[in-house]
Amino acid sequence: MINEHFRYAPGGGKLYAFNGIWPTLGRGVFIAPGARIIGDVEIGDKSSIWFNCVLRGDVNHIRVGKGSNIQDGTVVHVEGAGAPTLIGDDVLIGHSAMIHGTIIEDRGFVGLGAVTMDGCVIEGDGMVAAGALLSPGKRVRARELWVGRPAKKIRDLDDGALEGMMAGTIGYQQLAEKYLREYSA
Ligand SMILES: CC(C)(COP(=O)(O)OP(=O)(O)OC[C@H]1O[C@@H](n2cnc3c(N)ncnc32)[C@H](O)[C@@H]1OP(=O)(O)O)[C@@H](O)C(=O)NCCC(=O)NCCS
Repeated sequence: MINEHFRYAPGGGKLYAFNGIWPTLGRGVFIAPGARIIGDVEIGDKSSIWFNCVLRGDVNHIRVGKGSNIQDGTVVHVEGAGAPTLIGDDVLIGHSAMIHGTIIEDRGFVGLGAVTMDGCVIEGDGMVAAGALLSPGKRVRARELWVGRPAKKIRDLDDGALEGMMAGTIGYQQLAEKYLREYSA
């Protein structure tokens, strides 16, 4: 059966149209098998969306910048009445996170299993720890570390922590290149 609602993306994941709008991908984007990208979603060059993620841009839009990674099983959605999800460049989002109506600026980091709710902002170089719950409207300022449920700021990040976050991001950019070569062959 020909399905007119989806197409395969580079890497084997699927793109779905919604409301007549297809997701758009930059150069060198890797969408892993099982990942589904729906509707008004734009993903910049060399970003990677890993196995079984869902990015659903239906009642608002989702933007992902360049060189960012969204790891396996993460769900990204939006809030229809005013909170799109905007993800910048070189952002790392760990496995099984839930990102809802949130802005994550360049080099922001969301730990595995974390939840970020409508209207939250994670400024550049800000970090939300693994398992944290960022309740609606919270702002993680540049270089802050927020931990726990509900999440609170516990300290500022030093240069070493920022280097570690960036190393993780670069590692994912390199891994995505390898997958893209192997899965597009
Ligand atoms: C928050 C984080 C940076 C803390 O790392 P750290 O400073 O090395 O912390 P430590 O391991 O020394 O732990 C210090 C204390 O904080 C607690 N703690 C550590 N991480 C925590 C977290 N995510 N949530 C709640 N408490 C945490 C520890 O249990 C410990 O408590 P204790 O002093 O009562 O024993 C780290 O745990 C984290 O969340 N990293 C993100 C990793 C990730 O999600 N990567 C994405 C996949 S690649």
